[in-house]
This record gives sequence, C-alpha cells and structure tokens, in this order.
Amino acid sequence: STVKEYVAPVREVVDHLLPLEENIVRESSRLRKKRKTDPSSSIEMRGPLGEDIALPPTSFAEHLKRLGQSTEAGRKMVVVTRRPEVEESRLLLPIVTEEQPIVETILLNTVVVICGETGSGKTTQVPQFLFEAGFGSPDSDNPGMIGITQPRRVAAMSMASRVAQELSLPSSRVSYQIRYDATVSPSTSIKFMTDGVLLRELASDFLLSKYSVLIIDEAHERSMNTDILIGVLSRVVKLRESLWREPLRIVIMSATLRISDFVENPTLFATPPPVIKVPARQHPVTVHFNRRTLSDYVGEAIRKASKIHARLPPGGILIFLTGQNEISGVCRRLEERYGAQSLAERRKRRKGTQVGLDAQRFFRNDGDHDTVVDFEAEEMDLGGGSGDDLAFDVEDGLKDEKDVDMDALDTDDEAQGEDQALVPMHILPLYSLLPTEKQMKVFEPSPAGTRLVVVATNVAETSLTIPGIRYVIDCGRAKERRYNLADGIQSFQISWISKASAAQRAGRAGRTGPGHCYRLYSSAVFENYFEQFSQPEILRVPIEGVVLQMKCMHIDSVANFPFPTPPDRQSLRQAEKMLTYLGALETPSITTSCNAAGGAVTDVGRTMSLFPLSPRFSKMLVSSRDPFLREEALGVEERSGGDEDLAHISGEKVQSEESSKLRRREYFRSQQCHASLGNSTSDLFRMLSVVGAYEYAGGGRSFCTEHFVMPKAMEEIHKLRAQISDIVRAHFPDADAGFTPKIPPPQDFQLRVLRQLITSCFVDQVAVRKDLVEKDSATGVQRTTAKRVAYRALGVSEDVYIHPSSVLATTSPPEYVVYHEVVRTSQVWLKGLTLINPAWLPALGKSLCTFSKPFKNKAGDMMATPKFGPDGWELPPVRADNQQ
Ligand code: CDP
Ligand code: MG
Repeated sequence: STVKEYVAPVREVVDHLLPLEENIVRESSRLRKKRKTDPSSSIEMRGPLGEDIALPPTSFAEHLKRLGQSTEAGRKMVVVTRRPEVEESRLLLPIVTEEQPIVETILLNTVVVICGETGSGKTTQVPQFLFEAGFGSPDSDNPGMIGITQPRRVAAMSMASRVAQELSLPSSRVSYQIRYDATVSPSTSIKFMTDGVLLRELASDFLLSKYSVLIIDEAHERSMNTDILIGVLSRVVKLRESLWREPLRIVIMSATLRISDFVENPTLFATPPPVIKVPARQHPVTVHFNRRTLSDYVGEAIRKASKIHARLPPGGILIFLTGQNEISGVCRRLEERYGAQSLAERRKRRKGTQVGLDAQRFFRNDGDHDTVVDFEAEEMDLGGGSGDDLAFDVEDGLKDEKDVDMDALDTDDEAQGEDQALVPMHILPLYSLLPTEKQMKVFEPSPAGTRLVVVATNVAETSLTIPGIRYVIDCGRAKERRYNLADGIQSFQISWISKASAAQRAGRAGRTGPGHCYRLYSSAVFENYFEQFSQPEILRVPIEGVVLQMKCMHIDSVANFPFPTPPDRQSLRQAEKMLTYLGALETPSITTSCNAAGGAVTDVGRTMSLFPLSPRFSKMLVSSRDPFLREEALGVEERSGGDEDLAHISGEKVQSEESSKLRRREYFRSQQCHASLGNSTSDLFRMLSVVGAYEYAGGGRSFCTEHFVMPKAMEEIHKLRAQISDIVRAHFPDADAGFTPKIPPPQDFQLRVLRQLITSCFVDQVAVRKDLVEKDSATGVQRTTAKRVAYRALGVSEDVYIHPSSVLATTSPPEYVVYHEVVRTSQVWLKGLTLINPAWLPALGKSLCTFSKPFKNKAGDMMATPKFGPDGWELPPVRADNQQ
C-alpha cells in the first residue's frame, strides 16, 4: 500500500504539476513514431509554458545507445592547462582521487548525490571534472552548460572566479549570475548562480535547454529555494529524458550525510540515486566549551580572540557571529587593539621599552595546545551533558540580543600588557552584503608577520573554506528568517544553531592542521537546546507564503509538488483557498477545477509576493492601490501616501506583545487615544494610534518608557516600516511623494479607507449578526435584554460572540464585522474586530460572492443581489455593472 500511496502523488504531479507534460510525452511518442519512418524529421513543438521547442533530428534510442556505449565514461575529453601551483594544491583535495568514479557515475545516471566534508573540494572540483569530461563544450556529447547553484551570492561569485583561475579561463567561460549582476556570455561553459536565478530561468525555459548538467550545491542547508529546485528538477529530468536530444543530469552535493530526504524518497526519485561519499581529510579539532553561557557573546568573542592571539601559536582565527553589525563592531574593536597601525602607534608611545621582541620566538616556546586551561573552558564531554553549569539562563541568552556597546567592554589587562610582543592582526569581515572585492580578501595570503582573523556569519560555515584557519570561535547562534505565525510578520531572529552546524563550524579549524574550537556556550546548553539538525526552511515558514512563492514560479499544483520534505497537505489546500479569497490566485474555473489544484497566480498575488509579510498583510498593502479603494479614498494617497496602512501592518506586530505587556495605564491611555480619534469602529486602530504616536514623537526610548510600550517592538516596527516603504517606492514609483516619516492623526475618511483595507485582508473572516442571515431567529433586531448577541462567522459552524475586550462590545451590536482571531474558551469569541459595511464585500471579496440575475430597481438602474460565502448570506444589492 505504501507503493500505491507514492505512486498516486507522482501521477498527480505528472497530470497537474506540469499540465502540459502529458501533451509533450504524447507528442514525443508521436514524434518517435514519425522518426522511425523518417529519421531526419524535425518537428516544432510547444513546451510547458507555450514556448517553441525545436527537437533536433536525433532519436532518443540513439541517445540511449550512446549511453550504453559509455564504457569509456569518465575519459577526459577536453584538455585543460592549469598552472603547476594550482595542480599541486588540487592534488591535496580528497575529492581529486575520486574523479574517475564521480564522472562515470554521473555519465551513467541522471541523478547523483555527492557527500563530502566542507573543504573537500566539491564546489571547485566537480565542475572541473565535468568540464574535462566534455560537458559544456560545443562539439562534445554534452554541449549544454554546466550549471552550479549556490544558496548565497558570495559563494556564486567567489567560486566562479576560483574555478576560472584554476582552469586558466576567462570569466566569460567560467561565469556567474546573481540577481543583479552577471558575467555570463554566449561562450560560457561553467555557470555559477544563486538558486533563485535558476528558479526564475525555469519559468521561461522549463526544459533548461541550455544546460547539460546541474549541480545543486549545499543541499544540506535545506533552503526553501534549494528544496523546491530539487523537486522541480526531479521532473525536468524525466521530461528531458523522454524528449530532448541529451538528458539533463543532476548532481546534488551535500556537506552532511543526512541525505535520506533526497535519496530514500520515491516521490522525488522513483529509484534511489547513487550516493558518492568523498573521504574526509580532516585534522583533529579539540572542542572547548565555555563554563557559562554569557548573553554578551560579542564581548566574549573579543576577549577569546585576544587571549588566543596573546598566547597561542600562529594560525588564523575564524569568529562566527550572527550579522553585519556585530561583525563590524568586532572588527573595529580588534583593529583598535591589534591592528598593525594601532600596535605601531602604541609602541612608538612607549619607545625604548621592550620594542622589537621577536614574536616568533615568543610563540615558539608556547606551542603546547594542552595549556589552554586559562580559557575557562572545559573539554567536550562526549559522555553526555554535564550538569555542572546550570548557573545560566537560556532565555537571557536569546532575548538579550541587543547590540552590545562595544566601547563599554572591559579591556583585557593581560592582553594589553603583552601587546608589545604581539604581531599585528590582519582582520577581515565576511558577510553576504559585503562588496565582492572585500569578500575575496579572505582567500588572499595575509601579509607576512600578521595573524589572520576573519569575523564571519555562517557564510563561512560550509560555503566558503578560508585557508589557514587554526582557531574557531563559535558564538553558537545564527540569524534565521522566522515568521511569527500569529501575526504573519517575517523577521530575522537570533537563535541557537544545530549540533550539525556547530560541528561544521568546529571543522573549519582542522583544515590545515590540528585545531581548536572555542564555543562561547556551555556543554549543557549544547546538549539541551541544540537540535540535532536544523529544520528545512520550508517547515519553518508559513505555508501561504510558500504557496504564493511557488505559484509565482508557475508551479500551479503545489499540493502535488514532490517536496523533499513535504508540508502538511491539508494546510497546503487551506492556504490555496485563503490565497484565492485574497485574490492572489485565480478562482479555479469550471473546466479546470476538476483537479482541485487551485488557480494560477494573479497580478495582485505577484505584487503581494514582493513584500516580506505574510500574504494577508501584503494584501492590505496591495489593496491600498485597488481602484475601488482609490475611488473611495479620494486623494488619501496624495495626502499621506497610504502610509497609514503601513503603520497598521506594523501595528499588527505590536499587538501580541502589547496586549500582554502593556500595563494598565497604557491601556487607559490608548483607550483615550482611541477616543480622541473619535472612532470606535476597529480594535486594530488602537495599535495604529500607538505606532502613530511613536512615530509622531520621533521615536526614542523615552517615549516607550513613558507610554509603557516595548522599545524593541517599536524599533522593529520602525525598521519594518522603512523596509516596506523602500519596496513600495521601488515598485510603485508614483507613490513616492506621499511617504512621510510621520503619521498625522488620521482623518475620518482615512479611517474608513483603513477599515476597507482591513476588510480586504480579512475577507474570509467575516461575521454577521445571526438575526440577519437566519430567518427563524429574525424575530426583531437585537434584543438588548440578551446579554450577548450571537453572530455567524464564515466557516465556523457554531454561534460566535464578540469578545468583551473589543471596542465593538461597547457599542450597539454591529451588523457585519471582520475579525483577526477566533478564540475558544467557554464560548467561541471573535477578537480584533473591525466594523465593516457589507456593500464593500462584493468588491473586496469577489471570489466569495455569487450574484443574482440583474434586475431593475425603482430608479431604473440594473442591480444584482450578491450572496456571500458558502451559506449564501444575502448582501444589499449592488449595481450590476459593478460585479466584474
Ligand atoms: O565545496 P567544498 O566545501 O567541498 O570545497 P571547495 O569550496 O571546493 O574548496 C576546496 C579548497 O579550495 C579549499 O581548501 C579552499 O580553501 C580552496 N579555495 C580557495 O583557496 N579559494 C577560493 N576562492 C575557493 C576555494
Ligand atoms: Mg562547497
């Protein structure tokens, strides 16, 4: 039965994921028949996206024959000239001895997995092996390019230049392409690119006809793009096999052996692809844990680097931190203490005393690695977690992540005292947004008589191998993209890395010789709080966002997509439904709805995908451009540039924190604030007024203390607002003039537009007073005698009630509302309510409406009665020509 379970999805994929695949397969069998009779025939065909595919006059059988003949597989076909020193350093890489088996396996299989430790030479050598075997050369059997994907731009660029150098070829032959920059040319043979670039190429050339082999590098990172790529490629391979003159070959490369999601996954590959393991050549690395886990890991990193520099033998130091700010701070601080210039200056000041002590001599007598007890470190306890350092609080470690005041750090007296004896540090930062030339500096030999110190993000964990590193300082944390499932806002959060990542980081110290890794956390934290492996990104982000992203890549049937690790199917379908309601996806028409696969992405959906927000909130932004609202808004845009909705969205973020943390006084204040808006039509306005007041006051901590709001939340909102404004400015140039840093107190009509925006993003969360839609309970309007008035909510079968905390609980029971959450306690409550006008629903929630036959009203206008939702709630009539 398991086989059946797996077979079904595959068939569905063939039928729905690539709706035209079937056609092509049918076409190609017709083609093959035709070719039997006329071997030289060439037929024009259409690809999955309607593009022309000209099939060359070569039969598939001929191709197979060629494959069958490949007893000489792996034989070098292209002669390359490498400089002697390149050849020499290549020979040191463990993967070089595996060239023959790797090339043979790739030639004889369409999908191959290669596993090898970071630094074993996968990224730089495998493309060269393939190049030498003829891939990417016009007159060979595999003329298509060799493509290599990387999750990061840094790696794509630096690896391209490295391989070009090794092969002595220009950047027009070994090229890279990243989102905003490329060196590709018509003569490119090897192309490094980010995984996003390849995904975009798939949208216009589904057969990837320019490539003969694609190498998916760093697959162990499980980035969403890489996962989706592997899923798509598993199908492209089949397509190419059946109808292209050459098959497409896929090489999946991973730094860890955790590859079962790719290999033992019949949904992905019916027969498990062969796995080649590259033997590791790694020197032993001694791991030292800190006794305590300090929240100030940045300061701790500086102290540790100082001590290593002062006391341990020569060898590069690699420091892992989480982001650009920390890295720049640490670099500046180390430069001040140990940079060549500052050391020289200090020496000059103390001239005459001890100048010129030979650093090499100093170190020669201090070469014993075991004298590291001074480091307050404990050896790695392989027997399991030692419980002796419970004096620390993880919560602290994670929450207190604000930028460290670098200048307030204690200076390390010992290190200061010894600095006359020190060689200068050669300090280099390394992070993704650093300009390329600066990134490349880590590969250059550091100046003689200096110690290399690289301060990096986890880009140095597996993507780039920095030569000469002997000491690793690992803060144990990384910045990760996270979504808050409650409010749908994307943010970057600092959290513990996985045990696998920690091992990778430690491994960086053992490339050149035995090394040391200093972990700025205790073994108890490691044992108790580090996951074995990090979760695939696709399981960490909310599903609606993933679905929208995939639809934007023309993957229409997301539920049938062969994910390496699939998200929950039920929630996938739910997400498709929600996106349809939001207008991001086309309503499936009668003809296509039989496959229940959900519609294609709309222009609205495409715009929504630009924002780093969950679809519901991006919808709110996009709606502010909706012609319906524009009409209503009457120039709101000129006055305030739709800024309120930005504030509103940002306001959503405070909500959760605010509701729990806001103290009583603030509650009253904001109620006052609310009252001063003269408006009690939406619970969400309260958040808006807090954000508005903050921005109006020019921000600052004093505002937060005074008003009892969380400074961090407010700062984040401020940043998010700036980010969203940038995106809006980039994509809607005409909105530019309106963006003001401060929000003036909103006018009444602006508040109405805001309510419409809120309606547009909660259009699938409408509630209506029960007596309006249920005839038998309509024995009059609401009874004031009854304490609470029952409502019907879309998709909720029970009666629901307005939560007493809502501003709408204090007014007479409204007829129609949209809600943010449903909460079940003794009863089912609606929270985060906004009063709406039902006349907005046909325009803002079109996909949930059906319209009656048009009729003439008294004034002689053609009208239609909309019915809303699956239960067909009748709404007030609208003009019939407004339906579309
Ligand atoms: O991909 P993998 O981690 O297996 O190894 P690689 O990135 O191909 O690196 C192989 C070797 O090339 C490492 O020892 C790097 O230090 C070196 N390399 C270099 O010196 N300069 C570069 N720009 C890239 C790699
Ligand atoms: Mg690599």
